[in-house]
Amino acid sequence: MRDDGEKTSQRKIEHIMIAKRDDIDLSARSSWFEHVRLVHNPLPDASFEDVDLSFEFLGYDLSAPLMIEGMTGGHEAATPINRALAGAASDAGVAIGVGSQRAALSDESLRETYSVVREAASNVPVIANLGISHIIGEDGPDNAKRAVEMIDADALAVHLNPLQEIIQPEGWVNFSGSLTAIGDVVRELDVPVIVKEVGSGISREAASILTEMGVGIIDVAGQGGTSWSLIEGERSPEGSVRREASRRFADWGIPTPLAIMEVSSLDVLVIGSGGVRSGLDAAKCLALGARMAGAARPFFVRAVEEGEDGVKDELNKFIFEMRLATFLTGSLTVDQLRLTKKYLLTGPLKILADERHIFI
Ligand SMILES: Cc1cc2nc3c(=O)[nH]c(=O)nc-3n(C[C@H](O)[C@H](O)[C@H](O)COP(=O)(O)O)c2cc1C
Repeated sequence: MRDDGEKTSQRKIEHIMIAKRDDIDLSARSSWFEHVRLVHNPLPDASFEDVDLSFEFLGYDLSAPLMIEGMTGGHEAATPINRALAGAASDAGVAIGVGSQRAALSDESLRETYSVVREAASNVPVIANLGISHIIGEDGPDNAKRAVEMIDADALAVHLNPLQEIIQPEGWVNFSGSLTAIGDVVRELDVPVIVKEVGSGISREAASILTEMGVGIIDVAGQGGTSWSLIEGERSPEGSVRREASRRFADWGIPTPLAIMEVSSLDVLVIGSGGVRSGLDAAKCLALGARMAGAARPFFVRAVEEGEDGVKDELNKFIFEMRLATFLTGSLTVDQLRLTKKYLLTGPLKILADERHIFI
């Protein structure tokens, strides 16, 4: 949406309060990762210590191909959350994004709620963030440049969120000009543009159009985790049109494992996210074809409840499980895990993959 900074800031604090609630996370019911099985190798001919998850991303050497997805900023309550997330990302050697920087484009006093991320994480990639609606129109390229400069970012993530915007009471519903805007920003920025969703996924068809516009990194942010339909629906009165639609469309979208398979059939770096709740889920993303995995809510909840130590603990658990799953499939590197495709699909995911003509 495009409104003034004060309203945006108020919305940010409401999002923080609602996103903490477990009932907006679809993964408690199904993240779809339960329909992906990695094939066990009982005969590893190497030491567990030899597993090497290191990965180069945006010119940085990461300890694992993992990202804390863009979440917050734009309200003073976001500063300690962002500082905790960034401190832990820096310590673990993984990438980190900030939340939509719209609020700080119109209110300079909010810049620090985002720039705290770069200050606490100088050794890892930091990703700027704007919604598609903020780059449409003649100010678009300038907004994009200002967002990148604000946090000295290594890339800009542009989020696509039509479901969220339409359920949002004050949402922006005119997406005309999206493609031109993405093309313009790709051309005018000095850093790469990542296009992401926020929990409804990106299809092969959409990804194909994006790659034609010059986008080289796609973060699928598929269905199966945080539901922005439910979060925005909570902000409308019970019984209202938007509240009821938000529940009907709670699990709308492309399940993350399917989106990864679809988009990784193209020549583009894929980040698998949306409902990734463990290092095992992250390893499944890589086996399905993603080059990196990302998660938002698991790190958000630990940051809000326990601060930086909680996020560090969560990242440690993620990375240990990623290493374990890599080793147990008979791989020692992330490339081996991805290229050997040691996975099986079951249940509804298998049916969807067949329907979408994905051949393993
Ligand atoms: C509290 C919170 C705030 C978020 N804010 C943004 C945002 O400003 N921009 C964005 O691109 N995505 C935002 N997201 C979406 C995440 O980046 C991610 O795509 C989505 O939550 C799915 O991942 P998850 O299931 O691991 O939470 C937010 C997510 C959470 C939990």
